Formats: sequence, C-alpha cells, structure tokens
Amino acid sequence: MRIPLIAGNWKMNKSVDDARSFMQIVSDQLPEPDQVETAIAAPAILLETMIEANGADRLRIGAENCYYEDAGAFTGETSPQALDQMGIPYVIVGHSERRSYFNETDDIINRKVHAVYRNHMTPILCCDETMGRLEAGEKIHWVVSQVTGALKDITDAQARQLVIAYEPSWAIGSGKSASADQAEEGCYLIRQTVADLYGDDVANQMRVLYGGSVNPENISQIMAKQNIDGVLAGGASLDPETFLQLVHYQK
Ligand code: 13P
Repeated sequence: MRIPLIAGNWKMNKSVDDARSFMQIVSDQLPEPDQVETAIAAPAILLETMIEANGADRLRIGAENCYYEDAGAFTGETSPQALDQMGIPYVIVGHSERRSYFNETDDIINRKVHAVYRNHMTPILCCDETMGRLEAGEKIHWVVSQVTGALKDITDAQARQLVIAYEPSWAIGSGKSASADQAEEGCYLIRQTVADLYGDDVANQMRVLYGGSVNPENISQIMAKQNIDGVLAGGASLDPETFLQLVHYQK
C-alpha cells in the first residue's frame, strides 16, 4: 500500500522566525505518519530551526535542493552529505524553477538524484510540462524524457523508494490547477514510464505526487485519483492553518 504524502515546498519565502512559529502551530496537529505522511521542504538555512521545533516528530523535514558532490570547493552549494548528517529524509530535485532559472539539465538532475541516494535520502523528483508543450501535443515525449534522463543508472531498489512529482509549470503559482483528470493523466504517464524502465512491481510501489496550485478546495478531488499518491504544494503550504487543512483533506 502506498501511504499518501502531503508535502509543502516553501521555496525562498520564510524567515527563521516564521519557520519556528509555523512549527509551533502545526507540529502537534499532524496525522499519524502511517496514515498520512507529511513533509515540508525548506531552504537549507531553515532546516536546523525546523528540526529543533518538530515537537511530536511527525513532520518530515526536507531540503529544496542540494549539490551533486558530497564535499569540496563548491562555494555556496549545499552538501547532500551534510543534509544526511542532519537527518533529512527528502530532497527535492529538478523543480521547474531550478530547471528554468538555474539552467539545471537532465544530466545535472540525474547526478543530484544519485547524490541523494548515495547519502541515504530519497529524492522528490519533479517533472515539468509547459503550456506550450501541452498545446503542441508534446507532453508525452517531454515527461518521459525527463523521467528517463533523471533515472539513468538508478537501480531497481532505489527506484522503488522514489517519489516523483508531476508539476506542470503553467499550474505553478498561477492559481490555475490542472483538473483532477489532467493531474491523473500526468501521474499515470509517469508511473507507466517507471513501469517501462523497472517493471510493474517497482512502478506500483513508488509514489507519484501532483503539484501546481493545490489548495484546500481542490485537494480531495486530486487525492481521489488512482495514480496520485499525494501533493506538493507551494503557496498553500506557507500558512500553517492552510497546510493543516491540506494534510487533513477529506478522503
Ligand atoms: P504552487 O502550489 O504555489 O502552485 O507551487 C507548486 C510548486 O511549485 C510545488 O513545488
């Protein structure tokens, strides 16, 4: 059985004080992790504060990015080895904002996926799909090539633990979510791509999330879909009360 994962991605939006007060509000009101797993991916600079404030230890605290080398002369980068030493379980890799603003290619993303696994963490691998590509009918090629490129030389055992987020960039931050059917179609396509690469058994174990303007009003419809195992919410994860509404969505 795939346990639902309701995750937030804070991006570059919070101060240390904001992070601490968010944790004070949510940490005792989260569901049992064996029912619904909850996570927030935050900038590296906030992680220590969040870990310290994670009262009941129910929230999984993830990173938004890391470098693909463990250590060395890479000024300003975040070491995946240091993240692991902090006890971080998840790292977002390949978010569309990293692909478009920081020129991350499939090759860089693949190296980061390897670095995350090498350091005993799990990647939340994001796949993009632009409106232009959707209109040009290129969605299938684009999603498949991102998944295939990111997973080069990843083993079956690693792929089994994987989390992939289907995040059409036209739905990110636009207030215009994909419909539940469109979200399901994208997530199904990702699972089929993993099935082609690793077989049905692996594809049925790994989790696929939808991200893009998820909010407390649309989450239940999205979560009702067969191939959607959770969400990756940006804006709706910033406010503690709204995040609590997401994690306690109606089944
Ligand atoms: P929004 O929920 O703000 O659209 O952001 C989605 C996202 O980018 C999550 O990674």
